[in-house]
Formats: sequence, C-alpha cells, structure tokens
Amino acid sequence: MLSTDVFRARRERLLARVGGPILLLGNGVRARNLPMNALPFRQDSTFLYFTGCDEPDAAALIEEDGTTLFLPVPPPDDVLWHGPTPSLDDRREALGLDAVLPVERLEDRVGQRAPKTLAVADPARNALGSRLAGRPLAYAREHGDPELVSAVIDLRRPKGPEEIAELRRAARATAAAFNAVMSATHPGTHERALASLFHGVLALHGCVPGYGTILTVHGEVLHSRGHVNPIEGGELLLLDGGGEVDTGYTVDVTRTWPTSGRFDARQRAVYEVVLESQLAAIAAVKPGVRYREVHDTACRVLARWLIDEGLLRCSVDEALQTGAHGVFYPHGTGHHLGLDVHDLENFGDLPSYPPGQGRPSQFGTQNLRLDLPLERDWVVTIEPGIYFVPAILADQSLRESLGDRVDWDKAQDWIGFGGIRIEDDVCVTDMDPEVLTSAIPKSVEAVEALVGSGPTPEERLC
Ligand code: GLY
Ligand code: MN
Ligand code: MN
Repeated sequence: MLSTDVFRARRERLLARVGGPILLLGNGVRARNLPMNALPFRQDSTFLYFTGCDEPDAAALIEEDGTTLFLPVPPPDDVLWHGPTPSLDDRREALGLDAVLPVERLEDRVGQRAPKTLAVADPARNALGSRLAGRPLAYAREHGDPELVSAVIDLRRPKGPEEIAELRRAARATAAAFNAVMSATHPGTHERALASLFHGVLALHGCVPGYGTILTVHGEVLHSRGHVNPIEGGELLLLDGGGEVDTGYTVDVTRTWPTSGRFDARQRAVYEVVLESQLAAIAAVKPGVRYREVHDTACRVLARWLIDEGLLRCSVDEALQTGAHGVFYPHGTGHHLGLDVHDLENFGDLPSYPPGQGRPSQFGTQNLRLDLPLERDWVVTIEPGIYFVPAILADQSLRESLGDRVDWDKAQDWIGFGGIRIEDDVCVTDMDPEVLTSAIPKSVEAVEALVGSGPTPEERLC
C-alpha cells in the first residue's frame, strides 16, 4: 500500500498542470460469459496512479477544492453473496480523499462543465465518459483531452522512489518464480506444468502475472499464447513473464534456457551473442541518449555475429541501413515499464516518440516502441533476441528487397532452432543504470547450474 500523501501530491501536480475539473474513470467489471462470471478485474493504470482505488466502476472528479470519488453502492442483498463492503466514509479515509459519493451523484456533480477526461480500456465506461465530457473517447485511438494526456504522460513517465521500490518488490517475486521454473525444467515435463509453477510462486509472493505469460519451446513466436507443448529435451525454453504487485506495478523479464540443462554448441553461440548485445545496450542507457541509439547498439552486436556466421552478407553499417538484421531480430529493444507492461502504450506512440514523428517504416525497426532521449528515472526494458521465424524466412517481398544481403539458403538450416531473448528492466540514473531484475540468472554458467537442479514441477505441485 502506498501512502495516501503520494496520491494527493500526484493529483496536485496534475491540477497545477491542467486545472480542473478533471474526470478520471476507472474500468468496470466485464462478463466472461454471464454477468455473474466476470473476467479478472484490473483497474485503469492512470486511475490507479492518481487515486490508488482499485474498485470497479469508480470515477474521480479532481477539482481545485478537492477530489471526490464516486463508487457504486451494492444492493442490500450483496452482503449475502460477497460479504460486507466498507462504508463510503471508511473508503474516503483509507484513500485520503476529500469526499466519496454514490456513483448515481456523478452526472449531477459534473453538470454541464465538460471536464477534461481520458479513455480507458472498458468501452462501456468510455460511453459514459464521452457523454459527460462531450467528446468521443476510444481506448488507444481517441485518448481524451490532449492537454490532460500530455500531463499524464509527463507525470507517469519518470518513476518516483516509491514506484521504483514497488518495481523492486515485483522483481523479487519474479526472481523467485524464475528460479523455481528454471530449477524444475526437466525433459518429460510440460509447458503447462512449468507455467503453473511460475504462476503459483508469483501467487505465493502476493503477485498476479502482469501480462499473459509467454512460456514456450517456440521462442520464435514472439508473443506465443498457450502452454501446449511437452518438454522433450534438447530444445530451448523461453519464459517471458513478470509479477504484478498489489499496487499494480509489474516487471517484464525474459530468460531462455536449454531444457536438458546444457546449451549445445549452436544454442550457446546464439545465447552468448544475445547476452553480449543485451549487456552492450544496458551499458548505453544514460540520460540524454536516444533510445534508438540503445537499440542500434544492440543491433550492431547481433549484426556482427550474423555476418560472422554467414547469415548476412553485408557490412554491419549496411545491415543497419537496410534492416537486413531485422530478418533475425524483428522487434525493438524495449519500451517503458511501470503500472503497465508496455507502460502508457494506451496513448499510442505519444509517450515514446517525438511529437509528429511516426515509427520508422523499415521491417523490424517499425516495431521499435520507443525513440526519445532517455531521462533520469525512466524505467525501460532491454530485450534483444535472435529468432529463426519460418514465415519471415519465406517472405517473398523481404527476399526481394534484401536480396543477397541475407543468405536465405543458409538461414533455412536454422529453422527449428526457435528463438532466444534476454530481457531485463532498467532504471535510468545519472550513473550506471540500475538493473532492477538483475537477480535472475543469465550468464551461461549460472543458467546451466540452475536448470534442472531441483524437483520437477509435478513433484513440487502434485
Ligand atoms: N512481454 C512483452 C514484451 O516483452 O514486450
Ligand atoms: Mn518487454
Ligand atoms: Mn517481455
């Protein structure tokens, strides 16, 4: 629990920037199938940032003379099904707000004042927000009042000490979960068993997964969903997962390891170059350095290896100019992190690109999610990788545009290798960057010592 003073100070900074009235809407409960069978609820991150309130269907009206929270009052028989709800007054005190009123009073209080507001993920709430604010709102498209959007981005982008502390807490839980899964990896187990163990250890530490856990022997599928494959031995396992603590902060970590406990020669060579590229990119993280430069630092190391291996037939500079390395590294090096795994990405590229500058059009680089000069206290991920993706290697238009710069025949020999990504979360400081997730093993020696060193997930869980 963060102190109520933290949230009050954030609201004051917001008011000082844009003035009131500001209407913030939280998310509502959405049905999984029946209304009584709901999807897991997650509060809107901006709402959480300014109020600390994680209740569904809440709204906050922030004004110069105080903040009023509006909450649904449950019907009298709700106590039978869901137990007692604290009174509005108790919640006012717990959250350090000026007033808490039943949600039925919201429209009246807003009146005709057309407050500044923002879109959230829940379309039903955006319909309400659009009506009250008199402007269309749609998540990730019509973000809301531009002045408010820009103030929220400026406030949420640098992380305060209390936020870094929450990210460190999430990192500790996530380290325990990675350690458990790495030590429990044995041939004969299954992705779903390892995913259960990962989620179980996060839960023991009071965390939920901050996003859909990627745990797969098909690391070349960048955001693979589902955990359907047996672990046979000999393959690489990629785990991209992070714990979210009760205040909403999540980490975003990837490790890749050999399911038999030892990298074979090819796996080891690729692992070592991805690690070298990641360490070089982390070392480049400094205030004032454009994130594109961090990305290019990672790309240069990967391109050098791809050339030495004969997969690229051009210079490093030519690879970076033409995007040839993107055939094997088709995503960006990272993004903002905080209350959301891709923090602030609901505002599109506004938090991550200079005004008016769109994404590059080049294959691979178009997936670079961030290209601004870094600032102190921003938290970003650094996550290079190498992948052998059959669909990319078969892509006719890429073959034509990149021509002989890629040895397409040689690349075919690597199909089935999968992919390797190594991802850590890094806080920008005036000195060396702080790697918040550094406790999770990543050197070849540390990974090989840990993998398979403990009981299987079945022995641990069943
Ligand atoms: N976990 C998704 C990502 O790394 O961006
Ligand atoms: Mn990431
Ligand atoms: Mn990730």
